[in-house]
Amino acid sequence: MPYKLLFVCLGNICRSPSAENIMNHLIAQQGLGDRILCDSAGTSSYHVGSPPDRRMTAAASMRGIALKGQARQFSKADFAAFDLILAMDRENYSNILALAPSDRDRHKVRLMCDFCTRFTLQEVPDPYYGGPEGFNIVIDLLLDACEGLLAFVLQEQEASL
Ligand code: 4NP
Repeated sequence: MPYKLLFVCLGNICRSPSAENIMNHLIAQQGLGDRILCDSAGTSSYHVGSPPDRRMTAAASMRGIALKGQARQFSKADFAAFDLILAMDRENYSNILALAPSDRDRHKVRLMCDFCTRFTLQEVPDPYYGGPEGFNIVIDLLLDACEGLLAFVLQEQEASL
């Protein structure tokens, strides 16, 4: 059974689609496509159906990563469908937890920055109302977090064999 990861932010057009596509990029690079699956969602319904933000897409493409996807809203059903749910910031984290049906589901939720090994930021900052530098920081921070997350998932899979 593949390990299923869900990345969650507010709008699902900037941070979480970046996390999803960066993670897929690392997974493809290491030939792990049959072992780990990724998706993303937003806690809000503001941008449902929209593609990733063009400013975010531009920042990702400078690092050689294409952003694919269409925004959808996080729902309670996602707890059963995913093994690990990664919140980009503390507000996302508490909005996700508020929908958790059980303790087991609550334990599936983590802050994305917990997996960073180089950056010391605790949250992925919301870049939506800022300038281009904010989008570049999101990409660099997520590259760090995704590397740490990939190592964690591989460890979890080893442990469950
Ligand atoms: P995201 O960024 O949560 O990283 O997708 C945002 C997108 C839209 C809004 C805020 C943040 N908004 O207020 O519409």
